Amino acid sequence: MALLSLITLTYICYAYSSLSSSTVYRNSLDVDQEVPSLGVPRSVQQSWVMYSPYYPSEPYVPPPEGCSLDQVRRLQRHGARYPTSGAATRIVAAIGKLQSVESFTDPLLAFLKNYSYDLGYDDLVPYGAAQSFQAGEQAFERYAWLLSEANQPFVRASSAPRVVDSATNWTAGFAAASSHHYKPILSVILSEAGNDTLDDNMCAAAGSSDAEDNLWLSTFAPPMTARLNAGAPGANLTDTDTYNILSMCAFDTISHETRSPFCAIYEELAGPAAFSYYGDLDKYYGTGYGQPLGPVQGVGYINELIARLAGKPVQDHTQTNATLDGNPETFPLNRTLYADFSHDNQMVAIFAAMGLFKQSAPLDPTKPDPNRTWRVQKMVPFSGRMVTERLSCRGTQSVRILVNDAVMPSEFCGANADRVCTLDAFVQSQSYARNDGEGDWAKCFA
Ligand SMILES: *[C@@H]1O[C@H](CO)[C@@H](O)[C@H](O)[C@H]1NC(C)=O
Ligand SMILES: *[C@@H]1O[C@H](CO)[C@@H](O)[C@H](O)[C@H]1NC(C)=O
Ligand SMILES: *[C@@H]1O[C@H](CO)[C@@H](O)[C@H](O)[C@H]1NC(C)=O
Ligand SMILES: *[C@@H]1O[C@H](CO)[C@@H](O)[C@H](O)[C@H]1NC(C)=O
Ligand SMILES: *[C@@H]1O[C@H](CO)[C@@H](O)[C@H](O)[C@H]1NC(C)=O
Ligand SMILES: *[C@@H]1O[C@H](CO)[C@@H](O)[C@H](O)[C@H]1NC(C)=O
Ligand SMILES: *[C@@H]1O[C@H](CO)[C@@H](O)[C@H](O)[C@H]1NC(C)=O
Repeated sequence: MALLSLITLTYICYAYSSLSSSTVYRNSLDVDQEVPSLGVPRSVQQSWVMYSPYYPSEPYVPPPEGCSLDQVRRLQRHGARYPTSGAATRIVAAIGKLQSVESFTDPLLAFLKNYSYDLGYDDLVPYGAAQSFQAGEQAFERYAWLLSEANQPFVRASSAPRVVDSATNWTAGFAAASSHHYKPILSVILSEAGNDTLDDNMCAAAGSSDAEDNLWLSTFAPPMTARLNAGAPGANLTDTDTYNILSMCAFDTISHETRSPFCAIYEELAGPAAFSYYGDLDKYYGTGYGQPLGPVQGVGYINELIARLAGKPVQDHTQTNATLDGNPETFPLNRTLYADFSHDNQMVAIFAAMGLFKQSAPLDPTKPDPNRTWRVQKMVPFSGRMVTERLSCRGTQSVRILVNDAVMPSEFCGANADRVCTLDAFVQSQSYARNDGEGDWAKCFA
């Protein structure tokens, strides 16, 4: 892995004419060139898996010769956030156990004497807002030529505040990059209490990844837990506490935009490899290929995607809201750039429904396969994104799929050497979605 220069994160504060009361933070660095180090090497940041900041997996390459781009559909995860409220409670409990001891015998823990937990929960951190803003600027730079004042990006978001804030920071970044020539707005907010193709909220019978997560935890964590307990006699940490302590390297660093003292523990305990495999299992068995009712939760989004690619009404009987999708005001078919904002678990369901990141064998919860293709750090980091580009290649309508700027091999639709499929072949390949999950959707309510 190439050595990274440690670049200090600098924000430029933009006073913002169209948003008089709010301040937008813009990162001064181009995300394609270099990303802020946060004081932690990129390899360690990426080991945070779903808590990793966005990095492009590969440099963006324009469509191949002979193909012209005519429509873009973008699906993006919200930017970096605080721990969820549930995780925050567990983290506070674990730190509390450590801080209850009389004295530490391990210098790794000494900083805890004076440490006080001060993170929020659930919402975007400022860094996450900046990531979203920067993604909007990048989208403008890459795709603005597809637009006109009468044809602006059409933007939707799932209703969680961090997702809505990501969408509006993205539109602000887009507008700023255009010198306010374009002012895209967030047009549709899909309620997470209702039919929502941008959230995994509807399949009541879907299982969880707890069994696999816990099996891996009981495989890797005991020596780490023993080490921490030896350094904090009487703390009685459990393996779950150890996981929550490890997660603070990510959460504390992205919240304060500087290397957290928890990262010394994380690195010393050989946290990175173990922590990232935990994330890989969590998503694989949460809504990915390892969850029988995971992929079906991505079907509604794919049916919307097919509708837009083909310019035909949505046909779906799963998560779509037929009222919204049947109305050209709330589900237009005549735009060229669409942006949707969502969550990691839902994006994983969509990837699995489509056939992306297919694994040759299921992930083993006790033994990581070093050759696995299922790498959450390349799938759903904070501000991670899937972009579907519709192309016209020598008169044939075609598509290619990019995840975090890497063009997917798309073997499931018979992609050519340029990783491009014909639109027909792509639509044909999506029979699971077109058939409403081939019976799986009904199982969600059984
Ligand atoms: C901890 O905080 C106390 C009181 O603010 C201060 O006197 C002490 O030097 C600090 N110790 C360390 C190790 O930072
Ligand atoms: C899309 O269609 C609507 C109504 O049919 C129309 O008002 C709008 O101008 C069209 N937009 C574009 C970009 O063609
Ligand atoms: C950006 O996100 C932050 C939350 O971190 C929010 O407070 C702010 O209003 C958002 N800005 C815009 C322009 O939407
Ligand atoms: C569908 O969307 C409409 C308009 O936002 C909303 O009033 C309705 O509650 C939604 N229905 C469901 C089932 O989500
Ligand atoms: C740890 O366990 C010991 C023995 O069971 C108990 O005396 C002690 O109070 C526990 N400490 C904490 C912080 O729970
Ligand atoms: C919402 O989804 C349910 C389950 O698929 C479906 O029965 C219902 O018709 C949908 N409602 C709308 C407004 O699309
Ligand atoms: C991983 O791939 C390499 C290169 O193809 C191969 O030599 C190695 O045996 C593989 N490892 C496992 C565990 O499959």
